[in-house]
Amino acid sequence: MDRLIDRHRAVLPDWLALYYSDPLEIVHGNGRRVTDSNGRTYLDFFAGILTNALGYDVAEVSDAVRKQLDTGLLHTSTLYLIRSQVELAEEIARLSGIPDAKVFFTNSGTEANETALMLATQYRRSNQVLAMRNSYHGRAFATVGITGNRGWSASSLSPVRVSYVHGGYPYRSPFRGLSDADYIKACVEDLRDVLQTATSGDVACMIAEPIQGVGGFATPPDGLFGAFAEVLAEHGILFISDEVQTGWGRTGEHFWGIGAHGVTPDMMTFAKGLGNGLAIGGVVARGEVMDCLGANSISTFGGNPVATVGARAVLDYVRDHDLQANAAALGARLLSGLRDIAVSDPVVGDVRGKGLMVGVEFVEPGGMAPAPAVATRVLEETRARGLLVGKGGLHNNVIRLAPPMTLTGAELDEALAILRDAIAASGGER
Ligand SMILES: Cc1ncc(COP(=O)(O)O)c(C=O)c1O
Repeated sequence: MDRLIDRHRAVLPDWLALYYSDPLEIVHGNGRRVTDSNGRTYLDFFAGILTNALGYDVAEVSDAVRKQLDTGLLHTSTLYLIRSQVELAEEIARLSGIPDAKVFFTNSGTEANETALMLATQYRRSNQVLAMRNSYHGRAFATVGITGNRGWSASSLSPVRVSYVHGGYPYRSPFRGLSDADYIKACVEDLRDVLQTATSGDVACMIAEPIQGVGGFATPPDGLFGAFAEVLAEHGILFISDEVQTGWGRTGEHFWGIGAHGVTPDMMTFAKGLGNGLAIGGVVARGEVMDCLGANSISTFGGNPVATVGARAVLDYVRDHDLQANAAALGARLLSGLRDIAVSDPVVGDVRGKGLMVGVEFVEPGGMAPAPAVATRVLEETRARGLLVGKGGLHNNVIRLAPPMTLTGAELDEALAILRDAIAASGGER
């Protein structure tokens, strides 16, 4: 039994899903391209699930990490001052736009959201949480407890009481087809109804992804969360924006996904792209919310010297190369290129997203019935043509496109040509 796939299956959990009928081992990366163990190179449009925000082999990040390694210190602990941690926190606090912001670093998005829920529930002395249908926020008990997607809800055990609100997934919403303004109005009415009927009023927080990641890059109309926030403010309910996928300029028009909604959240959570592969996440929150815990808390590895030095280099790179503007420009071309394909392919039900975060939802021709088999075929057909993409969505029928934000125009054109052929080969007409 020496095939890596067999060894993987023997010792790793069955629920750790692998892509592709013949799973891929990536052994090398450069720019936006990765090479597998058979020497085949692919253009990467999923970036390790939106985590390799800059792409591969970025000298500025490697040099910063190497310099830290050369000090002999991989870890000291938060019992001691960590200069790069303080500097990174200062920068994130400033970028957040949250007044009197403080930052707590973790190793993952899950821990970031667990922390945000801990803070909100303690601050408000309530265990009631509002989440969006079709949401995903992580894999631990509280975060699974606020997951609105059956495919990722492994347990009903939860430390919080959650009520789900409509709005994050317009394509399959009961309010589908309304104008954006009427859609928002209907969702706000639903929120009021949920507060009235499903809670005891003193709700701790609402948590939402500005664009639902695992949920298939479902994208609500701009302004939805601003309208929600007005209702929440009437009750003193905190608003948390989960920026794990949407942060750092990926959505193009704003630095944070929530920027499209005209509201400054009480907290934001982040992870993935910040470290370009280094394990780092965190919460940025209003100071009084962050400081509300009445007991010690610690994350041993959270904000460690290697991760924070690397993350500082990532943020510098994002700013110095104006990757947000690149995401906006190339994202618009990606969306319109895919919409062109959609016009002639009845299997494409919806094309949506912002910046370099674009989803294509596949349906049975002539209707809206989800077509997960088509999405699976597109995954295989793109790979066969040298392109890696992601898959997801409530019905597993969405292809997710999220390349590194350093993408070039030529690479975008290459990917669009492959996608056109792959979709045609997967059930579309041509
Ligand atoms: C929006 C969102 N929040 C939280 C998480 C959890 O992050 P992690 O896998 O780093 O724990 C994810 C992971 O995909 C995510 O997409």
